[in-house]
Amino acid sequence: MRAADEQEHAVSTTQPAGEHLLDVRGLTKHFPIRHGIVFQRQIGAVHAVDGIDFTVAAGQSLGLVGESGCGKSTTGRLVTRLLKPTAGRVVFDGEDITHTPENRMKEARRNLQMIFQDPYSSLNPRHTVGTIVETPMRLNGINPPQGHKKRAQELLETVGLSPEHYNRYPNEFSGGQRQRIGIARALALRPKLIVADEPVSALDVSIQAQIVNLLQDLQREFGIAFVFIAHDLAVVRHFCERVAVMYLGKIVEVADRRTLYTGPRHPYTHALLSAVPEADPDGTRRRERIRLAGDVPSPVDPPSGCRFRTRCWKAQERCAREEPPLVRLAGSTDGHLTACHFPEEPSVAAREEDIVLDPALSASGDSESTSS
Ligand SMILES: Nc1ncnc2c1ncn2[C@@H]1O[C@H](COP(=O)(O)OP(=O)(O)OP(=O)(O)O)[C@@H](O)[C@H]1O
Ligand code: SF4
Ligand SMILES: [Mg+2]
Repeated sequence: MRAADEQEHAVSTTQPAGEHLLDVRGLTKHFPIRHGIVFQRQIGAVHAVDGIDFTVAAGQSLGLVGESGCGKSTTGRLVTRLLKPTAGRVVFDGEDITHTPENRMKEARRNLQMIFQDPYSSLNPRHTVGTIVETPMRLNGINPPQGHKKRAQELLETVGLSPEHYNRYPNEFSGGQRQRIGIARALALRPKLIVADEPVSALDVSIQAQIVNLLQDLQREFGIAFVFIAHDLAVVRHFCERVAVMYLGKIVEVADRRTLYTGPRHPYTHALLSAVPEADPDGTRRRERIRLAGDVPSPVDPPSGCRFRTRCWKAQERCAREEPPLVRLAGSTDGHLTACHFPEEPSVAAREEDIVLDPALSASGDSESTSS
């Protein structure tokens, strides 16, 4: 067991050297809870995101994982400025966009697109596919030399659809195809960053793999950076070079993919890895499993100190008193940050057998060979 005094303190960035396309500092979102019909007095707040730092380099993909309600979507919406933060700042492509007025957000919005979880509700059913894909270009005054229609048809081909789909309506397509339409729409402005909020969780597993592969191809071909939100570590593993784990509005651990999956130092990351669905039909493989006890506490009144302490099997008195900072621990590699007073030993490694991937996703990716 390692105490915080052994930590190499205060690494100020979540990523080693290099230019950051996205730089998020102290990002906070508290949703007010109001009471009363007339005065609407604020009686509390949902601490959805509570002071998080992270960076994404150009062309890089960062995975954001954690259980339901931990603040992943709120983070995505803050980054794309669909929500305004309570505190903190978002610097995108060298510009602080935290408080940029809406009428001056045009340039940033072109470069900062979002793909949503639900391909059913994120496409207007009354618009043709062509209109859906063309609208962002028209709204942003982009006039491609080949014309809007031709460009939209090219984009449809890029995402694996047919140019003939141009005049069809979203309800004529399957879930995976609709997600492809959403991706074509996001690509129309040639963004530098796409925030993908659970882009495959509403889809069948076999389709999930296809969409993850498509996103991966697009990322490589166009050098687009991604913030890829998922509750499932298995999905993120195939797509993201770096992964940040969230718990109750905080980032508790961040590292490159291989490090996070084979040498997690935070007990919560360990537990999440243990919880990855098991494919062991005949029950012959034995494995140690960490089971998370209890529910996630309310974000209205999060626990003092370490927020994970009410479910952590390693919790001690200090955990209730002191919030552990997100720092590089002794024994951790560069860029691997953990927020825990009593982390796992660096030697507690490689629980490969615990990380059982869905067979379809497993078969789909060679992505790990590209990790550091
Ligand atoms: N507009 C809102 N008003 C009040 N509370 C909100 C609002 N949006 C989100 N919340 C709350 O903020 C917390 C974080 O929500 P968020 O949607 O960011 O979580 P999430 O990690 O994306 O969860 P999921 O995996 O279920 O999508 C939750 O407690 C949620 O209920
Ligand atoms: S409760 Fe303590 S030991 Fe458990 S994760 Fe938090 S700081 Fe670490
Ligand atoms: Mg969400």
